[in-house]
Amino acid sequence: MSQQAGTQTHQHYIGGEWTEGSGSETFESESPATGETLAEFHRGTEDDVDAALEAAEDAFEEWRELSYIDRAEYLWDIYHELRERHEELGEIVSRECGKEISEGKADVTEAWHMVEWAAGNARHPHGDVVPSEVGSKDAYMRRKPRGVVGCITPWNFPVAIPFWHMAIALVEGNTVVWKPAEQTPWCGQIIAEMMEDAGIPDGVFNMVQGFGDAGAAISDDGRVDTVLFTGSAEVGHEIASKVGGEPGKLAACEMGGKNGIVITEEADLDIAVHSAVMSSFKTTGQRCVSSERLIVHEDVYDEFKERFVDIAEDIAVGDPLEEDTFMGPAIEADHVEKIRKHNELAREEGANVLVDRFELEDDEIPEGHAEGHWVGPFVYEIDYDTDLRCLKEECFGPHVALLEYSGDIEDAVEIHNDTPYGLAGAVISEDYRQINYFRDHADLGLAYANLPCIGAEVQLPFGGVKKSGNGYPSAREAIEAVTERTAWTMNNSKEIEMAQGLSADIITKDD
Ligand code: UN1
Repeated sequence: MSQQAGTQTHQHYIGGEWTEGSGSETFESESPATGETLAEFHRGTEDDVDAALEAAEDAFEEWRELSYIDRAEYLWDIYHELRERHEELGEIVSRECGKEISEGKADVTEAWHMVEWAAGNARHPHGDVVPSEVGSKDAYMRRKPRGVVGCITPWNFPVAIPFWHMAIALVEGNTVVWKPAEQTPWCGQIIAEMMEDAGIPDGVFNMVQGFGDAGAAISDDGRVDTVLFTGSAEVGHEIASKVGGEPGKLAACEMGGKNGIVITEEADLDIAVHSAVMSSFKTTGQRCVSSERLIVHEDVYDEFKERFVDIAEDIAVGDPLEEDTFMGPAIEADHVEKIRKHNELAREEGANVLVDRFELEDDEIPEGHAEGHWVGPFVYEIDYDTDLRCLKEECFGPHVALLEYSGDIEDAVEIHNDTPYGLAGAVISEDYRQINYFRDHADLGLAYANLPCIGAEVQLPFGGVKKSGNGYPSAREAIEAVTERTAWTMNNSKEIEMAQGLSADIITKDD
């Protein structure tokens, strides 16, 4: 399947076979920009997940016996395919999830970067040589794969995030059962085809298409050793709390944010406006790292506000496949409703609305796209108050609050930290002391200075603090979630000598 999704109903990939699965229901992938059906898919059931887990469990012993480098070889094929099909896949991402085309292509680029990192890392050391107190002992930290890894991924990075999870899990010697987001099954289908084309042994990689019930069947199953989840805080917390109660099982979850940018009185306002627009409106605000709070010092507030509002009024919303579009549509009709509710909540809580393009004018909607899920920027100012829900609850849309502060960077960071989340954020300032204060005191997993708070590179740890996540389902740090460490100590002497001065003498009552 490629440029044209085709008319057949697409299947699950389980144990090296394409299968309709046991259920009778199907579902459709819908273009968020036009409302048209792109393709149809079988909806996975608990039985399908069961079959996939069985296949993954059966395949594990042989897969783990391969060397890291042999496992990585399969992924190098995928790396080349992602690069060769960059344009085509970028367009499919844009068609299926509505991100504008440069973002669609960047998603594919991020995917091959992740594959490159994971496969390249196969040739790097995977443990440590650790000194021993005893000269005749060798001590090491070694890693072993955990077993079956369940991957549950979101629609907003439908190619990149699956590879954040799966490239690492596979190279480290685990087998995988993956459920793509129900909004982007076409991208899921293509990734599964790539895995098949690369010749990954049967059962090592399995994909079940479907909804939350299929995801829950993966995360609840005792055969799953690690769950890697990227998506909403609601689902992530449920997974993390359930898995946390099961001994021996791990979950690494990356969830949302109510991300903020602090713009101090020392900010370069060109950088501030540019960074804020990118952070709030790229991907139509639908990144978990998108910014919904701009915390601006009173000395620069009026000028910043004027410049930011001017751009928000004019930002180009349109067909994601056109290069002159900055913002595509929202993902689906329910999400438009959710954004509407957040906008209303801000109003109810006393917002002074500066830009309201929630309902776009007819002439702003591209021709032939009337059925798309269109929304434009919503920008408001409000006096900071710790009790305001609109400053704490994630909207996941182009919905942004301007908050004026007075005082020092300490005061700005206090406002910044007053959310239950802690994923991404930025400080805009020319004063290194302010920047370093933010770096050291903002509650964040991803912190930026004089940059937007989006666009992290794959070799960095990606995750957050507080409600934004536990564990890192990405890159370097995902290795912790998909491997077990063994502290391995070996004696090179014929005598047994213990550390800590512990006596190794065996004393009997005859002594
Ligand atoms: C997400 O926000 O859901 O840092 C993932 C970024 C991208 C990943 C975003 N590399 O913006």
